Amino acid sequence: MILIFFVWSPFYQEQEKNMSLKTILEKFPRSETYLISALLEFQDSKPDHCISDEDICTVADYLGITESKVCSVISFYTLLSRQPRGKYIIRVCKDVPCFLNSSTTILEALEDILGIHVGETTENRLFTLEYTSCLGCCNKAPAMMINGTTYTDLTVNKIKTIISDYKGRQL
Ligand code: FES
Repeated sequence: MILIFFVWSPFYQEQEKNMSLKTILEKFPRSETYLISALLEFQDSKPDHCISDEDICTVADYLGITESKVCSVISFYTLLSRQPRGKYIIRVCKDVPCFLNSSTTILEALEDILGIHVGETTENRLFTLEYTSCLGCCNKAPAMMINGTTYTDLTVNKIKTIISDYKGRQL
């Protein structure tokens, strides 16, 4: 039984990963125009929310562009990352309307609750804390996004409830 696991599991997992990337890429025409869209969708599909060297080669090959072009786009675009991140990426809006509505207090509360600073990931790989630019809901500032979900009108108490809810989801 153990032998079957060691022989089958890595092969199976690699097949799953390659299929996933291939499936996502094939939704896009082979053009550089779709580079960011393809990278974002692929990155979101991965538990560690990062793009590996191997992924860069695969994407570059599919779109017919150089690997250095893919790397430069990842470096420039803050939503993309080559570093492994947590299961949940918390992005706190840092633009002026949110800043004027105490986003700094929200960020400090998150740092305190999670025990990390902006740009870091918790030891259990559950949360990564980042900044983001405007999320398009300035009338309900301060705001943040966790993966694809936006949270507005934030207060410290609201933050505590939200983080507690996400911690419960890992059980
Ligand atoms: S400035 Fe924060 S949502 Fe627009």
